[in-house]
Amino acid sequence: MTAAGATPGTGALERARALLAAEPAARAAEQGLNDAGYLDLLDRELESTGVTQDLMVTRLVPAIYERFWRPALGRVAKGLMGPGMAEEMRIARLLLGLGEGDVVLDLACGPGNFSREFARAVRPGGLVVGVDASPTMLERGAAELRDSDPGNLVLIRADATSLPFRDASFDAASCFAALHLFDRPFAAVDEMRRVLRPGGRIALMTSVRRELTLRPLKPVIERTSGMRIFEGDEIVGALEQRGFTGLHRRLSGMVQFVGARLPGAD
Ligand SMILES: C[S@@+](CC[C@H](N)C(=O)[O-])C[C@H]1O[C@@H](n2cnc3c(N)ncnc32)[C@H](O)[C@@H]1O
Repeated sequence: MTAAGATPGTGALERARALLAAEPAARAAEQGLNDAGYLDLLDRELESTGVTQDLMVTRLVPAIYERFWRPALGRVAKGLMGPGMAEEMRIARLLLGLGEGDVVLDLACGPGNFSREFARAVRPGGLVVGVDASPTMLERGAAELRDSDPGNLVLIRADATSLPFRDASFDAASCFAALHLFDRPFAAVDEMRRVLRPGGRIALMTSVRRELTLRPLKPVIERTSGMRIFEGDEIVGALEQRGFTGLHRRLSGMVQFVGARLPGAD
């Protein structure tokens, strides 16, 4: 828990500085958390990849994201029989194999809906770093921390395809409901691979083209939504190519949950 009077995330930022590469660590020491309550390491706006990503930087969507937007759109994407939000959190925790003391990256964390859950799972010794590019999402996430700060979670503004962390600094990395929005999704996978320690675990939730999705519809959906629809084995193949093993995958409607680990630790 945060000491009385301290901005939520301050103690976690102190610990997270050790994970940052030299230049961002120096910036973190100089800047600290901004008035909104997150560390801003991104000096520019990201290029738009389409309407869905544009909505993430509005004020309205972050305000209703966790309670309404994500559960409703998630339901459409996962199908009626697919997992609800509590079950998604459980899937993420299991795929990441979270335990006390783990250092976790929640990439494209939005308002920190999963980050806070991870922070509880790794307490008291663990640390969670939520990274997102949207100032309004992070502002919302930091406001949530003012109500319930787990004490071991810090939010950082950065680009998923160029992370400010040292190599091999995290035990687990998650990216839910976001890879399909990135301009260069496989660069983000490379970055997650780079910052994971030997034996590190990865968990992804993203789009997948099922047999039901007619091939000619794919470019239309992608163009209108700005969301990429990954081919059947594209994500699993990308993880295997990068040396991940022990792959698990669960399909649900138009999404896939994928977990894997790096060799190197038992
Ligand atoms: C749909 S939200 C996902 C939030 C949360 N992970 C979840 O599952 O509910 C997608 C997030 O990806 C972020 N995002 C998009 N492109 C990004 C990038 N290149 N780097 C970091 N975050 C990005 C958006 O700002 C948005 O908050």
